[in-house]
Amino acid sequence: MGARPQFVKLAPIDKALRAKDIDHIIVHTGQHYDPMLSDVFFEDLKIPAPDVHLGVGSGGHGQQTGAMLAQMDEVLNTYKPDWVLVYGDTNSTLAGALSAVKLHYRLAHLEAGLRSFNRSMPEEHNRVLTDHAADLCLAPTEVAMGHLAREGLAARSVLVGDVMTDVLFQVRDAVVAAGDSFAETIDLEARNYYVSTIHRAENTDDPDRLEEIIDSLRALDRPVVLLAHPRLVAKAAAHGVSLSGGSIVLHEPLAYPQLIAATMGSAGVITDSGGLQKEAFLLRVPCTTVRFETEWVETIALGWNVLANTKDEIRAAAMRPAAAETELKPYGDGAAALEAVRTLIDLTPGE
Ligand code: UD1
Repeated sequence: MGARPQFVKLAPIDKALRAKDIDHIIVHTGQHYDPMLSDVFFEDLKIPAPDVHLGVGSGGHGQQTGAMLAQMDEVLNTYKPDWVLVYGDTNSTLAGALSAVKLHYRLAHLEAGLRSFNRSMPEEHNRVLTDHAADLCLAPTEVAMGHLAREGLAARSVLVGDVMTDVLFQVRDAVVAAGDSFAETIDLEARNYYVSTIHRAENTDDPDRLEEIIDSLRALDRPVVLLAHPRLVAKAAAHGVSLSGGSIVLHEPLAYPQLIAATMGSAGVITDSGGLQKEAFLLRVPCTTVRFETEWVETIALGWNVLANTKDEIRAAAMRPAAAETELKPYGDGAAALEAVRTLIDLTPGE
């Protein structure tokens, strides 16, 4: 793995592997290299330092994925693992997957079966290709299991739950116990600000699209803490789009416990992140997703997430009242990592 959401998923898996006394080699591709997108997650979530760091950095899709792939063969042949476990849908996921199948190592994909059905997204290419290459698809939800079955992958798919629930519940409890308030640290009133993250290629690469999204944030009725991903900062500068004005309070990306504290204390979230949509739902904070579709359809069905794209849609969605409470747990109960590790052990020949 190598990108921010993967470090969050790695944390509970690493803990579960250690609890079962399994040797675990962590390979960081270097896709994300800014400390706030990488190092802070290892520190806060108590993940051991990577055993191998490929130091690949940024680049076009082919260049970035290819640079990882070129180095992964040697890594796998050095450690000769029983399983190669890849996470999510980034270019790091695809590189790990391709290397494993080509060298005949057993491949497991964690967070398998998600689909946006938008074939222009790099994440959609990565997740479809990885699911079809994998020997074992570890799915987070029933909906994901359904997608895998429809693609002929039912026999190699197992529903384990969502590992992001595991880590979120642990961090939420620690944040509550510590009484941390993000609002106070930046002089805002609790429950009277929004949290926003925008970074996807579909939203940042087109100047008009980016300007409309940023303008809709400026026009909201409460301060909007815009947690600026490096891609957003770089693209806004290149397009001449200002990340300030109106309600926007520009802020650097947050470490994971601070992000959870900020979300818990907010009036709502406006995002194009996959993880944050679910985190908002699990914390019961209304989410507005700036995309035309989402993989996390359960959050929409239960009323806690709304898709919005134009300035008017984003404004109306962000200011809507919270949905009705629900007892349903589409993302499991916080024990997915142990289930995933148990499945890997059960399916290892000779174990
Ligand atoms: C990647 C994932 C995306 C995930 C996101 C989480 C792919 C195709 N995309 O998107 O699924 O939601 O991570 O953050 O794998 N950059 C930096 N510093 C960094 C990392 C990136 O400045 O540490 C800048 C560079 O200008 C780079 C750009 O961000 O060109 C894009 O980075 P990249 O890793 O290609 O994709 P993300 O947009 O971060």
